[in-house]
Amino acid sequence: MSDNPIKIALIIGSVRGGRFGPVVAKWFAGQAERHGAVEVDVIDLADYPLPLEMAPYGELPPPEVGAVWAKLSAKFTAADAFIVVTPEYNHAPPAVLKNTIDWFKNEWVAKPVGLVSYGGVGGGLRAAESLRLVFAELHATTVRDTVSFHNSWGDFHKDGAPSSPEGSEAAAKSLLDQLVWWGEALRDAREKRPYSS
Ligand SMILES: Cc1cc2nc3c(=O)[nH]c(=O)nc-3n(C[C@H](O)[C@H](O)[C@H](O)COP(=O)(O)O)c2cc1C
Repeated sequence: MSDNPIKIALIIGSVRGGRFGPVVAKWFAGQAERHGAVEVDVIDLADYPLPLEMAPYGELPPPEVGAVWAKLSAKFTAADAFIVVTPEYNHAPPAVLKNTIDWFKNEWVAKPVGLVSYGGVGGGLRAAESLRLVFAELHATTVRDTVSFHNSWGDFHKDGAPSSPEGSEAAAKSLLDQLVWWGEALRDAREKRPYSS
């Protein structure tokens, strides 16, 4: 383990009953642990419900939402980088994931984001690609490589391991290598000179 690991907030972007997201997230967290240069905080959006009705622009959320919002804000602020685990719902990320992204602003700025997707034949890639546009608007940078699982429900054994691990493990390593490079570069840059957005 590095003595100054990149802190990754790993976001589970689906919350529906019977969801597959935690299986993919758990596997990726294991890959991150193996990688050695990162520290992972798994953030399950099911534990942080935020309403669709957002606070007026520039205002803090109302008290009944405030505690959840503040907890997530602290976790996102502490992160040097993000991994977003997203399925694909109708060619897009789940509404709960987009809603959570929209609730925050400075927390994302000048940080790298890695995308891990899963779904049917498309492997969630349309959802992942559409998130690049969203994060660009937030001054976050998505890294090039992704990990994706096609027809994901048949792609994992009951113990949570992918049925053909070699390709997925290599993809996870590339993604993590790129995330660490950007994470270190941007952490250094933010320390030297605050990003002005
Ligand atoms: C409302 C809904 C829409 C979906 N749309 C797509 C889709 O457009 N493309 C795709 O590949 N899979 C689609 N799927 C399949 C999901 O990607 C798959 O069921 C995945 O496991 C969902 O993630 P979750 O189980 O973590 O909620 C859809 C599933 C749901 C529930």
